[in-house]
Amino acid sequence: MSGTKCMYLCLRLLFLQLAVAGAGADDGQFLYNGFAGANLTLYGMAKITPDGLLKLTNGTVQEKGHAFYPAPVSLRRVGAAPNSSEKAVRSFSSSFVFGILTAATQDLGGHGIVLVIAPNANLSAGLPSNYMGLFNSTGSLGNPSNHMFAVELDTIHNLEFKDMNNNHVGININNLSSKEQEEAGYYDDKSGQFHDLTLISGNAMQVWVDYDGDTTEINVTLAPLGTKRPTRPLLSARHDLSTVITNQSYIGFSSSTGTLSTHHYVLAWSFGVDRAAPAIDMSKLPKMPRKTSSGSQSKTMAIALPIVSVVLVFFIASCVLLVRRRYKYGEFREDWEIEFGPQRIPYKDLIQATERFKNKNLLGVGGFGRVYKGVLPKSHLEVAVKRVSHESRQGMKEFIAEVASIGRLRHRNVVQLLGYCRLRDELLLVYDYMPNGSLDKYLHGHGGGDKPVLSWPRRFLIVKGIASGLLYLHEEWEQVVVHRDIKASNVLLDGEMNARLGDFGLAKLYDHGTELQTTIVAGTLGYLAPETARTGKASPLTDVFAFGAFLLEVTTGRRTMEHDTQGNSHMLVDRVFEHWRTNSLVNAVDPRLGGEYNSDEACMTLKLGLLCSHPLPSMRPSMRQVTQYLDGHLPLPELMPSLHHTSFSMLSMSSATTQGQEGLDSYVVVSKASLSSMGSIGELSNLSSGR
Ligand SMILES: *[C@@H]1O[C@H](CO)[C@@H](O)[C@H](O)[C@H]1NC(C)=O
Ligand SMILES: *[C@@H]1O[C@H](CO)[C@@H](O)[C@H](O)[C@H]1NC(C)=O
Ligand SMILES: *[C@@H]1O[C@H](CO)[C@@H](O)[C@H](O)[C@H]1NC(C)=O
Ligand SMILES: *[C@@H]1O[C@H](CO)[C@@H](O)[C@H](O)[C@H]1NC(C)=O
Ligand SMILES: *[C@@H]1O[C@H](CO)[C@@H](O)[C@H](O)[C@H]1NC(C)=O
Ligand SMILES: *[C@@H]1O[C@H](CO)[C@@H](O)[C@H](O)[C@H]1NC(C)=O
Ligand SMILES: *[C@@H]1O[C@H](CO)[C@@H](O)[C@H](O)[C@H]1NC(C)=O
Ligand SMILES: *[C@@H]1O[C@H](CO)[C@@H](O)[C@H](O)[C@H]1NC(C)=O
Repeated sequence: MSGTKCMYLCLRLLFLQLAVAGAGADDGQFLYNGFAGANLTLYGMAKITPDGLLKLTNGTVQEKGHAFYPAPVSLRRVGAAPNSSEKAVRSFSSSFVFGILTAATQDLGGHGIVLVIAPNANLSAGLPSNYMGLFNSTGSLGNPSNHMFAVELDTIHNLEFKDMNNNHVGININNLSSKEQEEAGYYDDKSGQFHDLTLISGNAMQVWVDYDGDTTEINVTLAPLGTKRPTRPLLSARHDLSTVITNQSYIGFSSSTGTLSTHHYVLAWSFGVDRAAPAIDMSKLPKMPRKTSSGSQSKTMAIALPIVSVVLVFFIASCVLLVRRRYKYGEFREDWEIEFGPQRIPYKDLIQATERFKNKNLLGVGGFGRVYKGVLPKSHLEVAVKRVSHESRQGMKEFIAEVASIGRLRHRNVVQLLGYCRLRDELLLVYDYMPNGSLDKYLHGHGGGDKPVLSWPRRFLIVKGIASGLLYLHEEWEQVVVHRDIKASNVLLDGEMNARLGDFGLAKLYDHGTELQTTIVAGTLGYLAPETARTGKASPLTDVFAFGAFLLEVTTGRRTMEHDTQGNSHMLVDRVFEHWRTNSLVNAVDPRLGGEYNSDEACMTLKLGLLCSHPLPSMRPSMRQVTQYLDGHLPLPELMPSLHHTSFSMLSMSSATTQGQEGLDSYVVVSKASLSSMGSIGELSNLSSGR
């Protein structure tokens, strides 16, 4: 290599280095057109990829990633006291390009990306999920000593923090609930019209954050990548940041995932003090990865993708077929069902799949009807087909609408409903096939008792998985789904023994933030929350109650309700409560574990079970709190003996002892009466005895 060429290369390299690293913050600005070789302080999952993307989270769930500019930025006017009320913070401006990718099989992701200014660059104590990696307890929320200014791109609808929806931009001061929030989108300069944007679309977008030190105005503007900055900001608020921003501040990004696998990326970033943030050079940006090729999950994708495409092709094919053979095979269909088109599976395919519902393919008979194993023709997908009878058409439209909604649920701890088929007096629901069957068979050795004993780590994973699935149903999906029939026999195990919540036969869907409606009492004795019978309302907290009973069942290996030889019934919750009261909780743990378990985890699970089983709904934790307790992110609150004692006795009085049988028996009477008066839905909803 000749000397001149070498020198040229060296100069070029030097130039590139400068171009990449940008100027230091000493002169009040920096610019990263991509992050290759950038010197940022990274924590958690955050990494800079070889092609220059700042990857804040990599698809791992319940994690967080932080990336900070390595040096402090001086945002205060020199000489101003940190606590003075004079306008001590200088104007600043920051802009960045980001993209959020969800797994190919799901159209939801969480929780989002936050641009944050904080007194230090180490937020590693921050919790993932709804805490966005910013805070580690609700106790500190709103506290002025946090000195935190943040702009959130929030993709989960969190009612606790008063989120408006699962696709909004917010200005946050020392808190997770926003001072100001708006639906993601932008105002067109020409027409003035508002255009929606979907944060998790996988498309890159640009954000501008501006603070005016004199007027204390904060503007946040969003636009699709390549669109000129809109004049009208999306959000505008006034807040004097003098008491918020400290003398030494760090600026960076915080991002977190909850139960949904999500990749959060930043492609470029710039910042300026007392001036506009330097313009990002769009021609130098790294490429946003495509949804289908998000590498880290490649193994799952490699399996899931072909299945998804095959299912898709199959659905389209079945649509075509359906139109051609509308009433053949006694299939029943009405005009309103067109909107649910792809969810319908032709009867002919199901006949073929189950070999005309041969007995050898019968998987089980439940309260709802028979379940058959089958292999779909064409796609060769293994499925479970459930036959449910129905008599009248009344309520059918609502029911099918719910089936269609439930078919859109996507979570690794939820059994996938693939579609349905309706005959004149029968409904067929098609689910993913779960080769290892239901959990109760393992816990109680039901039917043969040849299943192996589940180890404690496996049980704990199952419990955490179901908690995560329920959290998704309650808080993370577009609607609130109340399952209404959580129990061990509705927890199914897939080929890898992962737990999945199944049987949404009783599930109710609500829009977030709406009043719950009264429905007929339904569920399984031993899992039914006391208020369900009183008010007839199913809420997420009634699911939490059943989940509590489930926790006790999994840890003790006993049924939630047992009958002795005299025919008296005993509630498991009372038994565990007694062990807790006498300080002998370990004696409640399943003896079949042979003492091989982590006693801290097992006792915590039992206490959490008691807490969830609290007769007063207001005393029960939310599923979000439950997952935080199970993950060890939050310490379990102490149970209060006096309150629990009286309440649990009250509960058992109203339920299971021989003397007080009116309690639960009257539930049965009430619901039988309403069942018969409810027509088809009544038929579909049942109250199985839990035996
Ligand atoms: C990164 O930046 C920090 C702060 O400016 C500096 O102390 C450190 O030496 C830099 N590291 C590298 C590898 O340049
Ligand atoms: C600022 O703090 C100093 C000392 O901590 C105190 O003397 C002063 O009164 C405070 N000023 C304001 C405006 O609160
Ligand atoms: C960041 O803070 C955590 C505790 O919150 C601490 O364990 C860790 O050492 C800190 N990291 C650095 C680099 O200071
Ligand atoms: C929360 O974080 C703060 C610092 O950010 C730390 O002082 C405190 O100990 C943490 N609390 C818990 C419960 O981790
Ligand atoms: C912080 O957010 C919480 C939760 O939304 C809210 O209850 C509290 O009032 C907020 N604190 C302040 C000071 O705004
Ligand atoms: C915020 O936006 C408004 C409207 O475009 C503009 O007049 C104002 O100067 C902006 N303020 C800042 C701090 O950028
Ligand atoms: C704030 O920082 C400036 C320089 O960055 C310094 O001159 C000043 O003394 C600092 N003030 C306090 C209260 O630390
Ligand atoms: C995500 O990053 C963490 C830490 O770097 C690593 O342990 C984990 O395996 C990564 N996960 C994926 C799915 O790449």
